[in-house]
Amino acid sequence: MSQFWKPGTEKPRLIDDEEGGVLFLTASASSSSSGYGFASIEKQRQRLPVYKYRTAILYLVETHATTIVVGETGSGKTTQIPQYLKEAGWADGGRVIACTQPRRLAVQAVASRVAEEMGVKLGEEVGYTIRFEDATSTGTLIKFLTDGVLLREMMDDPLLTKYSVIMVDEAHERSISTDILLGLLKKIQRRRPELRLIISSATIEAKSMSAFFQTSRRRRGLQDAEPALAMEPAILSVEGRGFNVQIHYVEDPVSDYIQAAVSTVLLIHDKEPFGDILVFLTGQEDIEAAVKLLTEEARDNRKSSSGLIVLPLYSGLSRAEQELIFSPTPRGKRKVVISTNIAETSLTLEGVVYVIDSGFSKQRFYNPVSDIENLVVAPISKASARQRAGRAGRVRPGKCYRLYTEEYFVNEMATEGIPEIQRSNLVSCVIQLKALGIDNILGFDWPASPSPESMIRALEVLYSLGVLDDDAKLTAPLGFQVAEIPLDPMISKMILSSNQLGCSEEVLTIAAVLSIQSIWVSSRGIQKELDEAELRFAAAEGDLVTFLNVYKGFLQSGKSSQWCHKNYINYHAMKKVVDIREQLRRIAQRLGVTLKSCDKDMQVVRKAVTTGFFANACRLEPFTHNGMYKTVRTSQEVYIHPSSVLFRVNPKWIVYHSIVSTDRQYMRNVATIEPSWLREVAPHFYRQDGPDPMLH
Ligand code: CDP
Ligand code: MG
Repeated sequence: MSQFWKPGTEKPRLIDDEEGGVLFLTASASSSSSGYGFASIEKQRQRLPVYKYRTAILYLVETHATTIVVGETGSGKTTQIPQYLKEAGWADGGRVIACTQPRRLAVQAVASRVAEEMGVKLGEEVGYTIRFEDATSTGTLIKFLTDGVLLREMMDDPLLTKYSVIMVDEAHERSISTDILLGLLKKIQRRRPELRLIISSATIEAKSMSAFFQTSRRRRGLQDAEPALAMEPAILSVEGRGFNVQIHYVEDPVSDYIQAAVSTVLLIHDKEPFGDILVFLTGQEDIEAAVKLLTEEARDNRKSSSGLIVLPLYSGLSRAEQELIFSPTPRGKRKVVISTNIAETSLTLEGVVYVIDSGFSKQRFYNPVSDIENLVVAPISKASARQRAGRAGRVRPGKCYRLYTEEYFVNEMATEGIPEIQRSNLVSCVIQLKALGIDNILGFDWPASPSPESMIRALEVLYSLGVLDDDAKLTAPLGFQVAEIPLDPMISKMILSSNQLGCSEEVLTIAAVLSIQSIWVSSRGIQKELDEAELRFAAAEGDLVTFLNVYKGFLQSGKSSQWCHKNYINYHAMKKVVDIREQLRRIAQRLGVTLKSCDKDMQVVRKAVTTGFFANACRLEPFTHNGMYKTVRTSQEVYIHPSSVLFRVNPKWIVYHSIVSTDRQYMRNVATIEPSWLREVAPHFYRQDGPDPMLH
């Protein structure tokens, strides 16, 4: 096993110079004590690298419209800068300081940390908002929120007037909402010169971001409005001297990175001194598989794993589970956190000395030709790999084990990732911009332009949904109503059309379930039990109708956790479904949807589903006999996902909610439809001359 690893061969170099065998990271020397729990909160705050820049940051924000702050993860940007701003008076007079994050889990985690540091109750002076969860009050001074939620807020308050400073954090992630937000904030600044922006991130290409914010200012000649305000963005780099991280590569490519990660954890635990381990895998499935393998190891072979505390970290964890991750490791124990790339830069875990990097993450990819967007496990970039390695160097010199070869790293890994906007379906993005009155979307000032093909596809879908008119403007009332609902426009349309069809109660449940990842417990190792449980609820009409049966059962059980346990249903997920459904109900009623149940008439439910998802219609290929479907729209080969209740049933016509791609393109969450409905609900899209509907 020890020959398995090979230390990096290149000469040690500085991190910002180039990647090499050893990285000198810019963590602050003062953060070297891992005895975080003992110092007073004030002391802890002063130890963070960003503290030395407190005055500089406040000065730059005072005198510059935009300040770009670059600093290593863990230097205190997210938790400290909003507090400095508050201390300096930016939240006086009813104004609010906003800090955006691309990830929901990070929003909650940093908000609760900041509330703790300030000694206030979360939800009061310090609050947060994520979709379907608002923990703020009228007295909130510092508000953490996802970039997506801030975009939504612009629909009611286009100039975001209540905020004095908006900090767009984690800008290097280039999430789709961050990019849209940056473009819009640039516009807002033109109208609100008193607004201050802080763009912060771990590894932003500060120059290109600065150039993005510069051009408009020259053009707009705002200097007259506030003469003392500098229009050139200020760039501040938070430095600190840090610890080196020894990089190890595998000798030969690994075929199973989950197994390799598990073996490496055990190897480190056996051979290396104490210090926590952070493992980067890709998603909930992977992570739970690794947790399970390590737990089994603990059962079968106590010696090799005694003292290990294994914890998963992915979005969708309950608050209690999150807390375990941030709590200090007990003496004599070693924590192993198995995470998605949320721990890459969004969250800092104290005490990590060893990092295991699978080299992969889950990424969104959209193909405008097939019009299919899916989440795939894809190789990360060198920039990400470096960030991941950096997580090992916070408290003392660390080690990073890369589950790929050095040759691969040097020659094959891409330097930077591609901004999400260039690999996403743009339907939601277009409708939001339209709702904000941005008509010329191709001409919008993007930090990175989306492809015209993707844009055209999105416009087509929105037009066929009846959301945009011939002039590509939002239709009234449908377009405006769809934009009002914080869901994928296809789901929103389904909710709105359930009104006439008399099945809004059922459709709201379906929409709520589709808003969360899965209502079933993870299937690893218990596929058989899970399949049997699913059969208890399975509906011939497909997964979406099956959800209704589960929901009904859950309510009948009195929302019992035992009932969930017995049926392999995720109790936390079901509680969330109830909560989201309630919020959707309120929104729908505000938009004039009358609550009505269709009782047992599943035909109308499927029809409502079709009004939203007609563009995802698929037909079973008659002659292949292997369950192959083709999408009507682009003739792509797709298959029903094995987790679906219609797997192997293969009805002739279906619509799907989403696609996951592994060895094939699999449709998740499908419903059976009548082909004749397609033309009926989307005459712009489908025609039907012969037996089957076709595209125009
Ligand atoms: O944003 P940046 O990566 O620069 O740092 P930060 O998130 O503000 O973290 C600063 C410090 O606060 C780190 O040492 C974290 O470990 C700590 N922190 C924490 O203990 N618990 C949290 N929920 C968030 C941060
Ligand atoms: Mg941060």
